[in-house]
Amino acid sequence: MILVTGATGNVGRHVVGELLGSDVRIRALSRDPASARLPADVEVAPTDEMPLDGVTSLFLNPAVFWHGLGDVLDRAKSAGVRRVVMLSSSAALDTDPSNQIAAHHLGVEHAIEDSGLEWTFVRPGEFSSNARAWAEAIRAGEPVRGPFPAARTTPIHERDIAAVAARALTADDLVGARPVLTGPEVLTHPEMVRIIGEAVRRPARFEEITPEEARKEMLAQPYMRDGLVDTLLRLRARAVDAPVEVSPEVERITGRPPRTFAEWAADHADDFR
Ligand SMILES: NC(=O)c1ccc[n+]([C@@H]2O[C@H](COP(=O)([O-])OP(=O)(O)OC[C@H]3O[C@@H](n4cnc5c(N)ncnc54)[C@H](OP(=O)(O)O)[C@@H]3O)[C@@H](O)[C@H]2O)c1
Repeated sequence: MILVTGATGNVGRHVVGELLGSDVRIRALSRDPASARLPADVEVAPTDEMPLDGVTSLFLNPAVFWHGLGDVLDRAKSAGVRRVVMLSSSAALDTDPSNQIAAHHLGVEHAIEDSGLEWTFVRPGEFSSNARAWAEAIRAGEPVRGPFPAARTTPIHERDIAAVAARALTADDLVGARPVLTGPEVLTHPEMVRIIGEAVRRPARFEEITPEEARKEMLAQPYMRDGLVDTLLRLRARAVDAPVEVSPEVERITGRPPRTFAEWAADHADDFR
């Protein structure tokens, strides 16, 4: 059986969807199973119970373990779990010790390595689904406000991340691998906003704000802390000039090219209407 943590999330829901096509049983976790809206033939259990009986592989989303892994890896080993596939981040490649996103993901990666379990660390860059934060402004016909409009990124569709994770959970060829995943193209946020406007057939535009204004807006969001906001702003400032590479890994692992941001915008157009 495969246990999917964060199963209602951007990636987890698609991991469940990918696994449904294979010959494995799935247990999906949510803090609120009653409102999880997962397929009927999937067993849904409460996250805080973390039922590990019968589980052989575990999809681990660190969003669920933001306050630490606790004893989950020891319990997994005792229960007979053999493999952990972790939703990590390409930030783990950053050698800057002040990068809190890197430190968080590397901390979880190291704990999994030390556990003696088989592992795969799936390391995506920026999710296309982060663009959902722009939905309210675009629906209202207002500009999307953000700093560093020239910063470049390689947004990846959550379904492509899930396809790689599902492969790592069900086949043996990704054990011990740390694939870095990106979408197929290099884009700026203003370009992404324009592409969403094309998907909803209504112009959508981007408006530059200063890093100080952005900082205030980010700190007003839940879960944002000074250090994390500083890290995010530093990464965006750096992305103006730093080389940005498109990774071949999604196509190498899944056999199909990663979905474009225009495909993501078409898939999620209703969120922006
Ligand atoms: N966003 C990016 O650009 C990016 C880039 C690289 C890596 N990542 C990694 O991907 C993760 C996000 O993945 P995602 O978008 O699939 O996750 P998500 O949708 O934010 O969350 C997944 C699920 O986890 C549960 N959850 C959320 N917060 C929780 C908490 N505090 N305690 C327990 N459960 C919680 C929720 O399910 P229930 O409500 O059903 O319990 C949620 O649906 C990040 O944390 C990071 O590690 C993100």
